[in-house]
Amino acid sequence: MLSRRQLIKLGLLTGGAVVLPWHRVLGHTAHGEGGPVAASPAVEPFRVPLPIPPVLSATKTADGVELYEVTMKEAVARILPGRETPVWTYQGLFPGPTIKARTGEPVVVRQTNHLGVPTSVHLHGARTPAGSDGHPLDLIEPGGTKDYVYPHQDPAHTMWYHDHALGKTGRNIYMGLAAFYLLRDDHEDALGLPRDGYDVPLAIADRRFADDGTLIFPGGIDGVTGDTILVNGAVQPFFRVARRRYRFRILNASNFRLYRLRLGDGDRFTQIGTDGGLLAAPLALTEVPLSPAERVELVIDFRRYRLGDQVVLRNLAGRGRTADIMRFDVVRNAADDTVVPKVLREIEPLTGPAPTRDFSLDLTADGWVINGRPFSPFRFEATPELDSVEIWRFTNHTAVLHPMHIHLIQFQILDRNGQPPQPFEAGWKDTVGVRPGERLRVIARFVGYPGTYVLHCHRLEHEDHDMMAQYRVTP
Ligand code: C2O
Ligand code: CU
Ligand code: CU
Repeated sequence: MLSRRQLIKLGLLTGGAVVLPWHRVLGHTAHGEGGPVAASPAVEPFRVPLPIPPVLSATKTADGVELYEVTMKEAVARILPGRETPVWTYQGLFPGPTIKARTGEPVVVRQTNHLGVPTSVHLHGARTPAGSDGHPLDLIEPGGTKDYVYPHQDPAHTMWYHDHALGKTGRNIYMGLAAFYLLRDDHEDALGLPRDGYDVPLAIADRRFADDGTLIFPGGIDGVTGDTILVNGAVQPFFRVARRRYRFRILNASNFRLYRLRLGDGDRFTQIGTDGGLLAAPLALTEVPLSPAERVELVIDFRRYRLGDQVVLRNLAGRGRTADIMRFDVVRNAADDTVVPKVLREIEPLTGPAPTRDFSLDLTADGWVINGRPFSPFRFEATPELDSVEIWRFTNHTAVLHPMHIHLIQFQILDRNGQPPQPFEAGWKDTVGVRPGERLRVIARFVGYPGTYVLHCHRLEHEDHDMMAQYRVTP
């Protein structure tokens, strides 16, 4: 944790007492620009192929530790036809390169900041020592470098790394600082699920563009949404598939937008995973909601379609340009020896009784807040003991959904307003949508590391203004 003196040095604090909410200390405006926003240049859907972000290779191996080197830098992306879009990237790519790691094999990611702004890198979904967690004030200054150490003691799951700078996370992720990070393990490999080219990450995000192709980020506390849907950085792409099974790791990488995924006219697909990895058993679905930062893993069996069929992945929560996400074009036959086993893994249900902590979610003059107070690096809203089990209860007193995310741990949802969770959210989670007026309880074991972590709403304009709090795991 940074000391008061270091904060002053970083210009994040003045010498005097801390009386101002953080968004004002950092010079944010309290509200959005307001007024009508121009539409992005129109783009015809399903004209560009789905890009798959390249996988980063380790640069060195010392003491059995894989070292990945990433440079944050500006780049130009070609997202709209005939236009250039300046973006902020990991390694020049939008989204950044995928890192693939294995359970039990520690990794160091060396991040170098060649951007003009301070950054912090968080590996979302990982159990990480506090010093490598990307605390919003643990910043890499322009020109600086930081080694993030990831022990990877957890089962296989889909994570993502993204920026986490205090008060600027929304802008920095919107500008491009986000990428997949996939953790695999022997158990999952042995199941026979689709793999390699048939195991496809899909990062869904929305953006708004000016006429010249530049990104428009209005900021403000009310949430930034775009009118153009991107998958892996491409506008509503098509993906040519074979008549066989595919695994899709779907991430809502949007700042604010909620999705409700549906395939074709309500075709069946199989959910196999959540934020924290595999479900206990596969689940047949025709629809699944996805709030910012949540992941859902699906197996789609394209053998049910004929050659030439085109199947649109839709967003039931969208309208007009945001109603279609991408299209699967069934173009060839292929052998398929994959299976979706009836048992994917064992999930031990956590149960109470356990100490309960309350977190109230409110809108006040300070912005969106947890327990009535804006973010402060000098306060802890909870102090669970290492290895203890606790129940955290979120009560949403506002009229909008807040996807609450807790660093360090994976939790299980106990109930929503006393009702058990839906089957699609029954596994391990690290982010959960708390609906307006809802009281939602999660249960977790705080295994891992002592130290300071944060919890926050993952609608990024809420997180930045000021729906974030610290908690401390005590030894
Ligand atoms: Cu994905 Cu603290 O965030
Ligand atoms: Cu996280
Ligand atoms: Cu929120």
